[in-house]
Formats: sequence, structure tokens, C-alpha cells
Amino acid sequence: MKERKEVKMNFESGELFDAANRDDRDKRKSGIIPPVAQQLHRENIQRIVQEALSASSISPSDLSAIATTIKPGLALSLGVGLSFSLQLVGQLKKPFIPIHHMEAHALTIRLTNKVEFPFLVLLISGGHCLLALVQGVSDFLLLGKSLDIAPGDMLDKVARRLFLVKHPECSTMSGGKAIEHLAKQGNRFHFDITPPLQRAKNCIEQGQILSSAADIAAAVQHITACHIVKRTHRAILFCKQRDLLPQNNAVLVASGGVASNFYIRRALEIVTNATQCTLLCPPPRLCTDNGIMIAWNGIERLRAGMGILHDIEDIRYEPK
Ligand code: KG4
Ligand code: ZN
Repeated sequence: MKERKEVKMNFESGELFDAANRDDRDKRKSGIIPPVAQQLHRENIQRIVQEALSASSISPSDLSAIATTIKPGLALSLGVGLSFSLQLVGQLKKPFIPIHHMEAHALTIRLTNKVEFPFLVLLISGGHCLLALVQGVSDFLLLGKSLDIAPGDMLDKVARRLFLVKHPECSTMSGGKAIEHLAKQGNRFHFDITPPLQRAKNCIEQGQILSSAADIAAAVQHITACHIVKRTHRAILFCKQRDLLPQNNAVLVASGGVASNFYIRRALEIVTNATQCTLLCPPPRLCTDNGIMIAWNGIERLRAGMGILHDIEDIRYEPK
């Protein structure tokens, strides 16, 4: 039997981490710290808004409306965006359009491609995993969602356990992107990992990763792709059998941060090809969180005359 090792590798130096050392443990667990995120939002929001306006040579008075994410997400960060926006709404006397983050991910594709309703959407991010039929700007039929953890959250956790934040090539990447990057050098057959990924956790905790982080990344990415693709295949068949999607021109849209992953995109393409569907994904920079998708969702709602608030008293702040 293999000896259980409480050590992990430091990619930069080849040194081993000491899992009992508090500093190392904290690095492994580090993620978004809500009060820190809130402070960074406070420090940057004004500058970012100004830069966006000057980059597009638009004066605030030219704006048609102000669109802001109100849910779901970290309450502390959303609160900063909302109070900043409400101040602008008051100063500029513009209508306000509250945005649902996942609606924005789903509609981004209509900014980059000509896509008519209805279409099937797969939203895979750090907080969500869902399949829905998009019948209109704000008309979503939820077909299924994750019962436990979102794929991005899972990939981030694996990346943290593998200390990829210390990897010279991966240190500036999100966990999911680091896994994708490292997986290219790995062998996905090396570890026999199956859902619910307990074995991945065991492999890492038993110190088997010493030279095998790339193999674990490849295996985890593969199993993530398989799991998502199976559910998506089922959803496509469900929609086709019930005529919920056009027979000849059915579209599957994949969006959210994890949809920037090209391995997962290729896996989805196998299913869309087999079911005579077209797979469409926004470019990676528009799959991961961005302000453009929120503005676009505002335009979609403005055009459809939906959810536009003229009285800021009507805005109820209910992050979920
Ligand atoms: O949509 P998003 O930017 O934020 C949320 O709404 O959560 O998604 C972030 C998630 C993170 O968990 C990140 O690790 C993951 O998307 N992600 C990726 C890739 N790029 C970002 N996952 C897999 N492959 C990628 N290339
Ligand atoms: Zn997102």
C-alpha cells in the first residue's frame, strides 16, 4: 500500500508544500474573499465607468439607460455596483434596467451572432450550471440545474488543491483556465477518475500529484466535459421530441466562464453534430464575466420595452 503523504509540490521550485503548515493551507483554500472584493469594487468602479465612457466617446448624458446586475452574486460586490448606478440614475435622470447575471450570459450570443428565439442554452460558470430553453429576452424555461457544485467552482477547487496559483505558467489564470492549460500536457487516462470526483481529491491528498498535476487536470477536465455533455444531449433530445426547438435550425448556445474551455466546446460539438444542432459560443472574453454582456442585456430589454424602471423607488435589491 502506498504511504499517505501530507505534502504537495511547489511548481516553481520543485519544493514540497507542508500540508500541516498554516500559510500553505491558507493558500490552498484561498478564493474570493467577499469584503476584499467589495473594497476592490469600491476602489475601481468610478475609474472603470469613466474609462468605458471615454473609450467609446460617449458622454453620460448620451446614455439611453443604465443597466446593472442586481442578482445573483456576492451581495457585497453587487451592492457597490447598485449604489453607484443609482447615484448616476439620480444625477442623470435616466431609466434603470436591473439585470439578472445569468440572463446576460444567455443573451450575449445575440450580440456576436444572429440567433433567433427559441434556442437551448447551457450556462456553466463558477456559480451555476443550468440548461434552459430561451424563448424570449426574459422568457426562460429551466430544464435542469446542478444538484451540487457548479463546474467552475469545482475546477477552481481542484486548481487550488493542485496549487496551480504557484505554477509559473498558470499563476495569472482562473482555476478553470489553469486546468485547461495544464491538461494539454497531461494524460487523461493516467488517473481513473469518475464523478463525484472523490478519487481526484484522494489522489491529490495522498500526494500522488507530485509529478502528475497535468494528468489530474486532464482527467478532471475530461470527466467534467463528459458529465456536461451527457446532460446536454438529453436536453437536446427532450426539446426536439417536444418540438420546442426548430427541427432544421436548432441552436445550442454555451456560455459562462467554463464555456471558454475548448475541450468542453469540442465535446459539445460531438453531440450537436450527432443531433443536427448548431453549437454557438461567444468568444472566451465574452463567456467569462464582463460588462459588455450586461450592457447588451440592457439593450435587449430596452428594445423589448421590458423591465425598465423610471422610479428608483421601484428597485428592490434581492441578491440570490
Ligand atoms: O461566468 P464566470 O466568469 O463567473 C461566474 O459567473 O461565476 O465564470 C467563472 C468560472 C471560474 O470558475 C473559472 O475558473 C471558470 O469560469 N473558467 C474556466 C475557463 N475560464 C474560466 N473553466 C474552464 N476552462 C476555462 N478556460
Ligand atoms: Zn458569470
